[in-house]
Amino acid sequence: MRPLAALALAGLLTACGRESPPPAPVGDWHWTLPAGVAPPPVPADNPMSQAKFELGRRLFYDKRLSGNGSISCASCHPQDKAFSDSVARSLGSTGERTLRNAQPLANVAWRKSYTWANYSLTTLERQMDGPLFRTDPVEMGINDGNLPTVLARLRADPVYQREFARVFPAEAQPLSLANIVKAIATFERGIVSFDSRYDRYQAGRAVLSAAELRGLKLFRSEQAQCLRCHGSPDFDDQMAGHSDGLPFHNIGLYNTDGKGGYPFPNRGALELSGQPADMGRFRSPSLRNVALTAPYMHDGSVATLEEAVRIHAEHGRRDAKSGDGRRNPWKDAAIDRIRLSAAEQADIVAFLKTLTDDTLIRDPRLADPFAARR
Ligand code: HEC
Ligand code: HEC
Repeated sequence: MRPLAALALAGLLTACGRESPPPAPVGDWHWTLPAGVAPPPVPADNPMSQAKFELGRRLFYDKRLSGNGSISCASCHPQDKAFSDSVARSLGSTGERTLRNAQPLANVAWRKSYTWANYSLTTLERQMDGPLFRTDPVEMGINDGNLPTVLARLRADPVYQREFARVFPAEAQPLSLANIVKAIATFERGIVSFDSRYDRYQAGRAVLSAAELRGLKLFRSEQAQCLRCHGSPDFDDQMAGHSDGLPFHNIGLYNTDGKGGYPFPNRGALELSGQPADMGRFRSPSLRNVALTAPYMHDGSVATLEEAVRIHAEHGRRDAKSGDGRRNPWKDAAIDRIRLSAAEQADIVAFLKTLTDDTLIRDPRLADPFAARR
């Protein structure tokens, strides 16, 4: 009886408004999510609001936010590619290429960690240090030397003067680096994708073709194993309740030295942990909008969706450059359990194409606010 009594007491205390603090203000933000998807975690010191989201969107598309004024976040994360890049390795502001493939940002708020293999990077706010300040290679190219210039550039814009003061009231200098980061993270959390043909089919509002339905059934089957690593509502294993242990996997993409080696510096979770067993372990990518996010894998080394699926089905990749990934000793055992004929692989590809969300890539709320003036 004790737990029940305690519960009743807690209820009473809440009703009297004593024991528990008043609910945090939720602002004017509304999540539009399908049944079964809970709102993502949002840091207590950076709550969602409509005005902050819109400010963040402007900053996300603003080239003045890079050291030399040449690129914005959107340069490597364009909306028409579901906020991923169409090249294997993206071009930074000073002409250097990124080490890995730029990831799509739809539903990024639900990820447990950010980037392909850095399990210590657990907030969008912290992730942003990378693109803004990284030097190896340079992305946005901001540094201690040019940060005052970048801030002065933005402060000279009356729109930013007005909007930062509105979104961060009662601060002596609302247009600060910390508030830029907060606003962009708010925009990123608002990039939500749950309106693909697959979602509409689930809601009884669309039909899928025979091949697409066969692919869906296969995708969910033991025979294909896909759910083990791409089984969350976001088709990764990053959402709560959808992974066991460190959700990073070696799928046998490389075996350059015959001992399971992946090429430096893209050796997966090992780069951070130093643990041999973490060789080649990368985060399972979300498969939402995957038809738009080519090229594939952490280094963009796979050109087509067909090839990405085939590599799983053949239990790894084998070619002159990659070595025999099928014999990679660190490979996740689930990959070897996959049994898919060529026709079944084609059905799965047909199904994966139903995950494209046209609403996301056309949504004016997520679009470039400067586009009209360019
Ligand atoms: C020069 C290209 C480039 C620019 C500019 C850039 N990014 Fe990225 N972004 C990448 C690459 C490449 C990755 C993958 C990084 C990795 O795994 O190491 C990435 C990854 C991310 C991720 C992780 C996504 C995930 O699923 O874990 C987020 C979030 C992100 N970028 C946000 C931003 C924001 C915000 C900006 C602007 C402040 C920005 N990016 C600017 C190339 C870029
Ligand atoms: C053991 C976990 C695991 C299983 C099982 C698995 N995948 Fe993957 N998948 C991954 C990982 C990890 C990557 C990224 C690997 C890398 O970049 O090195 C990936 C990459 C992909 C990609 C490329 C996506 C992109 O954006 O780069 C596709 C497509 C894909 N998987 C589809 C499938 C399908 C379809 C199945 C079932 C037949 C499946 N996967 C089974 C872990 C898995």
